[in-house]
Amino acid sequence: MQVIILPTPNDVAQYAANSVMDVVTENANSILGLATGSTPIALYDELVSRCRAGLLSFKNTKTFNLDEYIGISDCHEQSYRAFMNRHLFNLVDINPANTHVPLADSLDPEVLARNAEAYESGIERSGGIDLQILGIGVNGHIGFNEPTSSFASRTRIKTLSKSTVEANKRFFAEGEFQPHLAITMGIGTILESRAILLMATGKGKAQAVKDMIEGPLTSMCPASVLQQHKKSIVILDEDAASLLS
Ligand code: F6R
Repeated sequence: MQVIILPTPNDVAQYAANSVMDVVTENANSILGLATGSTPIALYDELVSRCRAGLLSFKNTKTFNLDEYIGISDCHEQSYRAFMNRHLFNLVDINPANTHVPLADSLDPEVLARNAEAYESGIERSGGIDLQILGIGVNGHIGFNEPTSSFASRTRIKTLSKSTVEANKRFFAEGEFQPHLAITMGIGTILESRAILLMATGKGKAQAVKDMIEGPLTSMCPASVLQQHKKSIVILDEDAASLLS
């Protein structure tokens, strides 16, 4: 695991944008794994600017997102499909057919389990992920692999932990239905990515970052598994790195 500490969240976004650009430029048919949440928004803004400036093209790129909420339609503005359309896909030259977000618009567990399996095979058929972008939850989750998730887990239905539901409350209006279930790539799925880049910014992530980097390898901090990946890079701003010894 390589750890890079940069002064500001904007520096983190620039670094991540350079890494994405390197992968996409080296192989026009590259496969990106993408994350949602607040952290990668500055990265997506930067990728959109570079694409508009003609420095980067996603014409032949395929993407697979980490996760999607169960219980809201993919047209709901807080769905991760809508998030990706809004922050990246609708703003760059990517072919919409090449963008993948888990299909979670059913409440039938059998349908959801089949969708999760199909997602997993879709990644495999595409040849696997070249670069996976990750954020980290305050409880150390990656994707929606909450503490105690198996390091061997594959794409599946997952119940969100109380702390994740609490952390994501900010995206939903008062009294609005907030999902407690999601389909997420598993930790085993994420670890098969050829390279992983985890971004973390802000003091709120400092403890999770410390546990990920300096703590023991434990499913209580799912992100600690990245210590074992041969090409994982963690990019932090100074606040997120503030508890590192
Ligand atoms: C989102 C995802 C989550 C987030 C994490 C951090 O697709 O997989 O693991 O990366 O919850 O979210 P933010 O960036 O909002 O703090």
